[in-house]
Amino acid sequence: MKRNLELSVPSPPTWIEAVMADFSSFLQDHADCERKASGFAMSMVAKYPDRTEIIPELIETALEEMEHFKLVYERMAERGITLAHVIPKDLYIERLMDLRRNGREEHFLDRLCIGSVVESRGAERFHLVEEALEDSDMKRFYKMLWTSEAKHGNLYVNMALHYFSEEDVYERLQWFNEREGEILERLPIRAALH
Ligand SMILES: [Fe+2]
Ligand SMILES: [Fe+2]
Repeated sequence: MKRNLELSVPSPPTWIEAVMADFSSFLQDHADCERKASGFAMSMVAKYPDRTEIIPELIETALEEMEHFKLVYERMAERGITLAHVIPKDLYIERLMDLRRNGREEHFLDRLCIGSVVESRGAERFHLVEEALEDSDMKRFYKMLWTSEAKHGNLYVNMALHYFSEEDVYERLQWFNEREGEILERLPIRAALH
């Protein structure tokens, strides 16, 4: 069975051009995103301690994202790039999070759907980065990352399927997918993941 959905809109060529034109800034933002992805998985553990079926996978995901953070930071340090001192508001995530419904079950499903679409977008964009890079070590690195984020995209859907019907999960995922595309298209293009 298909576990995720196609993204509603592909990233425009202007996005990868902006990233390649200022790769140091992109790395700084990328590191922050990995740290936040780890925090997101752990926030699910903290908010839903009764959902014991998915806690081991959430912990595993948080560890993988933290490992990504470590690996990005190592590559930054090798290049003399520091972490960002000022972390701008993440409008992409904020706007997605604003769409969560009230109600315990609805809120839970919406968080998992947001997790899935954000991971799927990350996979799409890291794939574009892999294709655009020339350095073979960095190419391999971004290939490892996009395959991992694609897996995370599926993982959040699988978690939702523990608790909700296929129909409910895919309908909501499709809805978030469409909103995600709209949000992304309205954000300015920067040398950043979103
Ligand atoms: Fe990651
Ligand atoms: Fe991920």
